[in-house]
Amino acid sequence: MDERKAGIKGLVDSGIVAEELNMCKSTLQVPVVDLSGIQVEDGRKKIVDAIREASKKWGLFQLINHGIPSSVLEGVTDGTRKFHEQDVEVKKEYYSPDLSARRVRYESNLHRFETKGKTTDLKDSLHIPWQDSGHNEPEEIPPVCRKTSLEYIKHVRKLEDTLLGLLSEALCLKPNHLKATECDKGQTLVCHYYPACPQPELTLGTSKHTDPSFLTILLQDQNGGLQVMCDNQWADVTPIEHGLVVNIGDLLQILSNDKFVSATHRVVANKVAEPRISVACFFFNESSVSPKIFGPIKELISEENPPQYKEFDVSDYLAKYLSRPLGKTGLDLFRL
Ligand code: OGA
Ligand code: NI
Repeated sequence: MDERKAGIKGLVDSGIVAEELNMCKSTLQVPVVDLSGIQVEDGRKKIVDAIREASKKWGLFQLINHGIPSSVLEGVTDGTRKFHEQDVEVKKEYYSPDLSARRVRYESNLHRFETKGKTTDLKDSLHIPWQDSGHNEPEEIPPVCRKTSLEYIKHVRKLEDTLLGLLSEALCLKPNHLKATECDKGQTLVCHYYPACPQPELTLGTSKHTDPSFLTILLQDQNGGLQVMCDNQWADVTPIEHGLVVNIGDLLQILSNDKFVSATHRVVANKVAEPRISVACFFFNESSVSPKIFGPIKELISEENPPQYKEFDVSDYLAKYLSRPLGKTGLDLFRL
């Protein structure tokens, strides 16, 4: 607790948090896309149009009637709570702030207080990477949340396939275009736990950022706190029971040649007495085995729409992203 207080004080002294948190609040409503009409032709067209609008303007939308059973959503939320509320001795076994040290790992942002002073993110996270290639070891997932995580991964991958079809159509490409790029091959489930915060007005749950991923599907509980930037103002992503949040990541903004925007978002500190739980699934091709070149999709480039980014190897992208200054977007790394 002492480190936390010092960290928050350091931040208040620097004036950064006050400036960030007092920014004008948007009255705009974050778009909600209802997938229930997807089977009928007219319904699908409406969904594609809504996704196109949302992805251009916000880079983020909420999704309802997405087909993942509520028992699966409740299961993965519960499993996350159980993992984080376990005895420290059990959790310790999974602790590693280092990305490369172990695949399934647990990290806390607390260590950043001591080193950087300015980072105030108050959360603990369990990372569960999952490869499409099949090189997975389910036993690596902590027993307390193994079954629920695997069940959720199975469903969220299926939903992502559906979304990729819709996003391809929204870019006026063939439905299988984005899938064929293999940009989304591989996913990491990140199970966040934001404890109730003693001084929520002075700190953040997750600082402002864009996701380096291709696409992110997020499940948040009913406590709220997620915000997205639109027209330079923060808008609340108000929780919808059994809904999901979808956001465009840096890699999809690059592939779309800036037709879609990578959502700038953050989580304000938890104001309620109970912990806030969210589960982010990042879709991203991390394959270091076979090099893959990515860049703006050729079909989206013309004389009027010249490429905004150069082509790059995905492992190079990741290396550069991880070594960039904190809080800087990955988009500028390859911008022409
Ligand atoms: C993230 C993220 C939001 C949340 O993990 O990148 O933005 O609600 N999470 O936890
Ligand atoms: Ni994010």
